[in-house]
Amino acid sequence: MILKHADVVTGGGVKRLDIRAENGRIAELAPEIEGEGIDCRGLTVFPGLIDMHVHLREPGFEKKENIESGARAAVKGGFSQICCMPNTEPVADNKVVVSYIVNRAREVGLCKIHPIGAITVGQRGENLAAIGAMKAAGAVAISEDGKSVVKTSLMANAMQYAADFGLKCLCHCEDASLVDGGVVHEGYYSTFTGLKGSIRAAEDIIIAREICLAESLGLPVHICHVSTYSGVQLIREAKARGVRVTAETCPHYFTLTDAAIAEFDTNAKVNPPLREERDRLAVIEGLRDGTIDCIASDHAPHHEDDKNVEFNYAAFGISGLETSFALSYTQLAASGALTLPALAEKMSGAPARILGLEGGKIEVGAPADLTAADLNETWTVDPKEFASKGKNTPFAGREVRGRVKLTVVDGAVKYEEKRA
Ligand code: DOR
Ligand code: ZN
Ligand code: ZN
Repeated sequence: MILKHADVVTGGGVKRLDIRAENGRIAELAPEIEGEGIDCRGLTVFPGLIDMHVHLREPGFEKKENIESGARAAVKGGFSQICCMPNTEPVADNKVVVSYIVNRAREVGLCKIHPIGAITVGQRGENLAAIGAMKAAGAVAISEDGKSVVKTSLMANAMQYAADFGLKCLCHCEDASLVDGGVVHEGYYSTFTGLKGSIRAAEDIIIAREICLAESLGLPVHICHVSTYSGVQLIREAKARGVRVTAETCPHYFTLTDAAIAEFDTNAKVNPPLREERDRLAVIEGLRDGTIDCIASDHAPHHEDDKNVEFNYAAFGISGLETSFALSYTQLAASGALTLPALAEKMSGAPARILGLEGGKIEVGAPADLTAADLNETWTVDPKEFASKGKNTPFAGREVRGRVKLTVVDGAVKYEEKRA
């Protein structure tokens, strides 16, 4: 397979190159390669995008999403690799569920899907899950996503065990006692709507706790979906001291503020909640200065039945796989905050390095995982067009720039947009 006349995003910059793949790997990169190929004139080719934080809902909540529909959404969104969170039913807290996901992903055969194991049995926060057995079955990290591990000593043990097995802990940071039923960020819009708010400290306290543990124990930790300006600052200061902390944020945190819930749009109900302009700008600055390593969608598909209800009863989460690239390109690269190589780093290079996955760069010998996008195309988000079963997006009707045209995984085309 050859991609022709592409603008290729490499670590060194963007270059006009042809790319030849052989046996699933990049075999040649040159200005002009002989032979038939896919014409990529006008397209920009990124290393296959990697989303290290998605929810696929299988097993247990297949009405919301399943591994196949989630994988279709992933390749349509430009992702060649995704990592799925363990808050399924049953919870992915053992090798049986982890193996099930690995096998089902292989049968579906679209993108690479890496399961993330739970930290505690049943995500109940009582006993550690069998981390080594989950790793042997294919888990690439552990996480209690959806909540934090309440008991600090248990979290310390989890970090130690995870490190012994070469896995990272991915931390959803939320002090449940402070959130105490809050459904939005506490501020002007919680007062305006009468919805119960939760303060930044609910997130920041656990970010600080995980940093303290990582620092004291000399172990790595990864902070999920950073949403507060103060959380960004905690991570920045920790990194400056040499703490082995990495962090992600999501497109909704650098695109929206809590103004999105002013009219009770349950599609903007997400955890952690959308915050204020000050937070949004700090998240962008964190991405720019390297405090925030990467972008993940926190793809959280829900059924209409879970969202088309009174705000307090609606599920938390945004279906994000199919808007992540365009929102990131529009908000960060087209705006000038990040260069194209920096965007590729946030959406591919960094997640690969954080989790120790192969991929994340375009070079001879690397897996032929490639994402081609038209960066000049402007389009309007329409959830009816999503491959995901989750149509829950606060971005419906929004105009964005940058459209994924082609996703290649191990040298095979797994998604190609139909041409008009
Ligand atoms: O908004 C969210 N949705 N936040 C979470 O932590 C969990 C996720 C889900 O599983 O729906
Ligand atoms: Zn989470
Ligand atoms: Zn999540």
